[in-house]
Amino acid sequence: MTTGSLLAVDLVIAVLAAAGWLGAGGASAARRRPLALGLAALALLAMLARAVTVTALARAGWWFAAEKVLIAAPLSVAGVVVAGPRLLRAAGDVRAVAVPLLFAGYAAGAGLLVTVLHGYPASAGVGLLALAGVVAATAVSWRVLGTRPSPTVSRAAVAVAVAALVTGTGLTVTPEPAPAVPHDHQYREAGTAGEPTRRFTLTAGTATVTVAGRDVAAWAFNGQVPGPELTATVGDVLEVTLRNRDIGRGVTLHWHGYDVPNSQDGVPGVTQAAVLPGQEFVYRFRADQVGTYWYHTHSASDVGVRKGLYGVLVVRPAPVTGVDVTVPVHTLSGVSLPAARTEPVQAGTPVRLRLINTDSTTHRYALAGTPFRVAAIDGYDLRGPTPLVDTAVLIPAGGRYDLVFTAPATPVALFVDGRQVYATGPVSVATDGWPVLDPLGYGVAAPAPWSRFDKTFTLVLDRGLDLRGLLPRYAHTVNGAADPDIPPQVVRLGDVVRFTIVNRSQVVHPWHLHGHHVLVLTRDGRPAAGSPLWLDSFDVRPGEVWQVAFRADNPGMWANHCHNLAHADAGMTLHLMYA
Ligand code: C2O
Ligand code: CU
Repeated sequence: MTTGSLLAVDLVIAVLAAAGWLGAGGASAARRRPLALGLAALALLAMLARAVTVTALARAGWWFAAEKVLIAAPLSVAGVVVAGPRLLRAAGDVRAVAVPLLFAGYAAGAGLLVTVLHGYPASAGVGLLALAGVVAATAVSWRVLGTRPSPTVSRAAVAVAVAALVTGTGLTVTPEPAPAVPHDHQYREAGTAGEPTRRFTLTAGTATVTVAGRDVAAWAFNGQVPGPELTATVGDVLEVTLRNRDIGRGVTLHWHGYDVPNSQDGVPGVTQAAVLPGQEFVYRFRADQVGTYWYHTHSASDVGVRKGLYGVLVVRPAPVTGVDVTVPVHTLSGVSLPAARTEPVQAGTPVRLRLINTDSTTHRYALAGTPFRVAAIDGYDLRGPTPLVDTAVLIPAGGRYDLVFTAPATPVALFVDGRQVYATGPVSVATDGWPVLDPLGYGVAAPAPWSRFDKTFTLVLDRGLDLRGLLPRYAHTVNGAADPDIPPQVVRLGDVVRFTIVNRSQVVHPWHLHGHHVLVLTRDGRPAAGSPLWLDSFDVRPGEVWQVAFRADNPGMWANHCHNLAHADAGMTLHLMYA
């Protein structure tokens, strides 16, 4: 069983345990003895099962089990110790054990709440708050059921609850920290990239575009979705003038995967101010990186990208030979882009399909009718990619794969999530059952460029209650905090930096660091065994632990965030900063 499914199973069992005890308490209050006994037995079983799942999770990494071991387990054990013997001894009136059973339920429920609302890292403060909650709920139950214990016991209970509440609150509510990233700093000066050799103008505006025969209200660059395809040859100097006609929330251009100088990175409030209606901003950078990239607004990025403010950026080593097609996949108002197209290709022609995922979730791509190789991922060529047949690839949000093949005499077709998007002729084949390529084992390995690291960071991804803003929100968190309160990763120019990313949530987080490509070292403790993988976007699935590294060679302040842009908006964004 994967760690991800263990996390899910453990959650379900925890719910069963809490529900079992609470149900048993209710049944005994209603004097339904057999039902109470049955539910208590169920709860006990669930708790034993949890001992197994929590142990298994702890073996996958303390991150996955910390609060379960330190907070939920002691609370649960207390519940059993209090309720168990009393239940066995309650010969006549089963109602007498209602409160102890409810206590066990509150204890199991409190442990569950700590996991769901707080997560990682476990802290003494949160443990004490959970304890206060359990004691208070028990005291209320005494009142309601009219089975008050002796005055000494109830006074002791009140004292414990108050002390735990006060201490827990004191430990949890720390003074407001300074925002992680100073948003009032001077934006960096644009570097000198040289005289432009390729000029483009992108005007952002609201527009009605027709997709699949339907008129859709979109936000578009130059009135089209996707925006114009920007192409260059390596060595060109690109100059892109961004204008905003009427996007009230502002726009910017971020060159996803292109490791531009910081001043050109297009992150509003960090590298530039958002471009408001009527304003413009000129981007200029050298096209030194060959490969498949894309651009998108980084202002109101969740809505903005979804509504259509994105386009393709391709930098080629030389003028195109053969067939070179970009396939930017996007979901616009429920319609899947691009529309399917078929164009015959002469047998023997070299073909490159540049697959781009501009959505916030993973897509599955399958190329049928020919052996092919994955020549590049995220713009970086792979080493020694071998031919693949009837194999699908999963591309994370923001990611790109270049597939290459020589056109056979028979037709070839590309499917995205089972939908045909590109073909050289009629093909009908079911691709759903195909195995999926694991890029960590594909191609030929090379020795790692570094053996020691100057800085290491750990990012534990989770969900949790964020109480720091004006309104509490259920945020996507990193190390228990949400943007803007996640401490930045501070590095020095030249550092070799390693970071570990742990996903203890129930959803996929496609991770994306700006300004740098990271080299994948390990996943779930197993070293990457194929071609070196230099990625800018990678899916960290529930329960997974990735270790990646990069050299800090591009000074500035860089966003480091989940590329499910709704998650990024809901807290899952931090920054990499050069000291
Ligand atoms: Cu493509 Cu910060 O994002
Ligand atoms: Cu995410």
